[in-house]
Amino acid sequence: MSTSPARTLKGSRRLQRRHDRRSPSPQWQFLRGFLKNPVMVGSIIPSSKVLIEKMLGPVDWANTRVFVEYGPGVGTFTRPVLDRLGADATLVTIDTNPDFTRYLKEAIDDPRLVAVHGSAADVEKILAERNLGSADYVLSGLPFSTLPPGVGEDIAEATANVIRPGGAFLVYQFSPKVRQFIAPYFDRLVRGFEWINVPPAVLFWAYKGEPAA
Ligand SMILES: C[S@@+](CC[C@H](N)C(=O)[O-])C[C@H]1O[C@@H](n2cnc3c(N)ncnc32)[C@H](O)[C@@H]1O
Repeated sequence: MSTSPARTLKGSRRLQRRHDRRSPSPQWQFLRGFLKNPVMVGSIIPSSKVLIEKMLGPVDWANTRVFVEYGPGVGTFTRPVLDRLGADATLVTIDTNPDFTRYLKEAIDDPRLVAVHGSAADVEKILAERNLGSADYVLSGLPFSTLPPGVGEDIAEATANVIRPGGAFLVYQFSPKVRQFIAPYFDRLVRGFEWINVPPAVLFWAYKGEPAA
């Protein structure tokens, strides 16, 4: 017996709807991650669009070959970064939460994305193992002030080691205390603030040498 194209289409739509109902939304996935590990996730709501635009505003995309993102969560920044990144560039995301890393791999089908389950403190090893050399930019959504003692300092130092001269560490945080972690390792700090975010966030662009032209 032959099946009509209309019936096949209806069947595949029904399957897609069933799949959509079963796969969690990014918001639900994020909330679940927060409830499982509130200290490491540090926030109950993903970053706002306004915050993303402001944070990524100064990035020199044309000269970006390797972009690293710490704590991508469910990809709130990951997708906008991929939208701006060149076709031959690489985005490495690093998250200690295996559920978030698995979710990103399944949800974003893009050959430029390398989603790693690990700690930002190991960024040097993570880039070296993949022969990626230094990073042009590192973006961080990590809750620096609630990380275990010593981890924030280790991450700031390792980050300064992997960023090329002229590159920058982009940091958004709810507490301005993050400044004390990053200031010792960078040559120039530019500070910003964004009210339209829950909660409002402090932004830092920490440059090594001169900012990218
Ligand atoms: C506030 S959430 C940021 C989520 C997302 N980037 C956003 O803007 O909505 C912090 C993320 O950092 C991750 N994280 C915490 N400590 C980490 C570490 N040492 N290395 C990498 N990721 C870490 C958490 O699992 C979580 O995904």
